[in-house]
Amino acid sequence: MIYNAAIQPSLFEDNNYMDIKFPKPQYLGAKYIHSNWIAQFIPEKAKVVLDAFSGSQSIGFLCKKMGKKVISNDFLKFNSQIGKALIENKNEVLTSEDIQILFSGNSNLKEFNLMETLFTDIFFTREETKFLDAFRSNISYLGNEYKKALAFTIINRAMTRKVTMGHFAHTQALTYAADPNRIKRNRSLIRPLKDLFLELLNEYNSAVFDNKSDCLAYNENILELLPSLSGVDLAYFDPPYCDSHADYQGFYHLLETYTNYWKDKDFINGTKRYSPKKHSGFETKKEIINSFKMLFNLSKDIPYWLISYNDRSYPSIETLVEIITPYRNVNIEKKQYQAGRGGKGSVAGSSEILLICKP
Ligand SMILES: C[S@@+](CC[C@H](N)C(=O)[O-])C[C@H]1O[C@@H](n2cnc3c(N)ncnc32)[C@H](O)[C@@H]1O
Repeated sequence: MIYNAAIQPSLFEDNNYMDIKFPKPQYLGAKYIHSNWIAQFIPEKAKVVLDAFSGSQSIGFLCKKMGKKVISNDFLKFNSQIGKALIENKNEVLTSEDIQILFSGNSNLKEFNLMETLFTDIFFTREETKFLDAFRSNISYLGNEYKKALAFTIINRAMTRKVTMGHFAHTQALTYAADPNRIKRNRSLIRPLKDLFLELLNEYNSAVFDNKSDCLAYNENILELLPSLSGVDLAYFDPPYCDSHADYQGFYHLLETYTNYWKDKDFINGTKRYSPKKHSGFETKKEIINSFKMLFNLSKDIPYWLISYNDRSYPSIETLVEIITPYRNVNIEKKQYQAGRGGKGSVAGSSEILLICKP
């Protein structure tokens, strides 16, 4: 039964969720590979955890497995849909009936042709962009917001699998997809999106679970969300690494356009990235220091902070510690990369840093 969640009831009886598998993301700076290392710094007594820059949701998911009430947030909508699907969602999965709905013909050709118009022959063939538009037109027919979020999550993941390097900041996708050597290394380049979606489906359905806390997923700029939150015990901050890898909207614009299905933006340069970008505050040298100051000031009532950082970003770790010191005591933990496969900033010899900030 490929469409059913394969979650074992015994996991719930024991309240042991640690065996539930997080579907492997392909996202710049995802902390999936550092989950076990980060887990040891999350105190047992922290019951409510904010994953403030949640991205692929890997640390929010870790905390959900640890039984925490997770509040996840990312200012990009396609990421917050992963949060709805895997963090907030307790039991909704995609069934074979849902798949039938999603794989039906385009329900409104006039409204739903954005992918075909923008991205044909840039990232996908016409057949594939038409499939994406039809799929998108049918998402609204699913029964509830969690099923819709799962549909977005899985189709977006299928798109990153099909494109070389898993992002949309280059225009070589179709050239690479025609290169026999590349195909030999990665057959996903020539597989239909529909097949990739079906292959991923069970993995995502199986990751839906209820940890008996009411977890939440937001889609806000963190500086606007923080004033409305209360009762948070621990905040995990994993901001973009300024001056290193900060341009998430350049890399993943296509997923954001697909999820929002904007018609009122300009689509610029060879990749057809939407313009203007959403404002982050954590992407440019000009703004970042002030944004950190605001972030920490707005978080002063949250007792514990964990901050992921990298020793190649701006500002330097010393400056960041100076900004934190009026609020918290800081300990610096380092994990050295063995090889250049650590994700964002993962040059051999660089380190993944975790700032442990306590009252
Ligand atoms: C380093 S990534 C987080 C990776 C994540 N921890 C994971 O494991 O996948 C930083 C994230 O911050 C988000 N972001 C950037 N500016 C933001 C803001 N002002 N508010 C909320 N999220 C923001 C980006 O969309 C990106 O997903």
